[in-house]
Amino acid sequence: MTITLNNPLDMHLHLRDEDMLKTVGPLSSESFSAAIIMPNLVPPVATKEALIAYKERINSVCGSDTFTPYMTLFFKPTYTKEFLESIRDELTAIKLYPAGITTNSEGGLSGFDVDELRMTLDAMSELEIPLCIHGETNGFVMDREAEFVSIYEMLATNFPKLTIIMEHITTKESVAALDKFENLYATITLHHLLITLDDVAGGMLQPHLFCKPIAKRPEDREALRKVALEGHPKVMFGSDSAPHPQHAKEACGCAAGVFTAPIALQVLAELFEEHSTVEKLQDFISNNAQKIYKNIEVPNKVITLEKKPFTIPAKYGEVVPMFAGEVIAYSIV
Ligand code: NCD
Ligand code: ZN
Repeated sequence: MTITLNNPLDMHLHLRDEDMLKTVGPLSSESFSAAIIMPNLVPPVATKEALIAYKERINSVCGSDTFTPYMTLFFKPTYTKEFLESIRDELTAIKLYPAGITTNSEGGLSGFDVDELRMTLDAMSELEIPLCIHGETNGFVMDREAEFVSIYEMLATNFPKLTIIMEHITTKESVAALDKFENLYATITLHHLLITLDDVAGGMLQPHLFCKPIAKRPEDREALRKVALEGHPKVMFGSDSAPHPQHAKEACGCAAGVFTAPIALQVLAELFEEHSTVEKLQDFISNNAQKIYKNIEVPNKVITLEKKPFTIPAKYGEVVPMFAGEVIAYSIV
């Protein structure tokens, strides 16, 4: 059995920089046509020069693969319309991090005051630049995302023309918010479709499954699976593949992030097949994103998966992938 995917897109990806970029960049460009590239480098990507230079570094590691990096800027409430106009052709979206909420987000936003945000969000609405948000409060770790839903609602109401993407949603509350506001959309990762907190911390602690937002309860995973597997038009795949070197994961003070880029399509194929919804995978992996992001162009790339066992390597460079050493049902042809 084979599955053909047209232009698979990864709408939330961390490619890092330097040696790590050299290791992980080609692993995404082998599987995907394009990806939304997160800006949380040190320092974050927050100027036109930094964005263009980063895009060139990404292109230079992806070799001959057809792969488009959709670039993002790190949100600042000081971006003016003039600045955004000047960078619009280089950029696909802007990513907003609450301050200190995750890896390299110290320079993020420390409060959500509509008046403080108005200049930049009005300009983004007018220029049709989507806003991607890491939606977590500083509350109790299992409640952070559900608590943030009221902020999503406040933004969706005050900026009705702004396309708002709830990144890597993990809860039934976020799924419910999708249908309440026309301008709210979401990405869902592979790992949040597969695991719950039990897999992370229910037995021996699994550092390679530790990420932000933390995996939640079985009913949350069910809610995510439902919308992903039915190809709900407001959700799209975003791996949030977030590589950290093995020593930073298997450490006292484990870095957050699950590395899935090289196995994502194969494992998604297996999941959709198990649920008899393979025909919906194309929507989840590409078509929905192309409708939500009206400002992207896709190259012309077809990826074929075949039902042939694949043993996931123990490591890619310094990075341990999710399910390292395990055998999965599909391979990329
Ligand atoms: C991401 C990272 O390492 O950059 N980590 C993660 O756990 N997902 C940042 C993020 O998306 O939160
Ligand atoms: Zn991320």
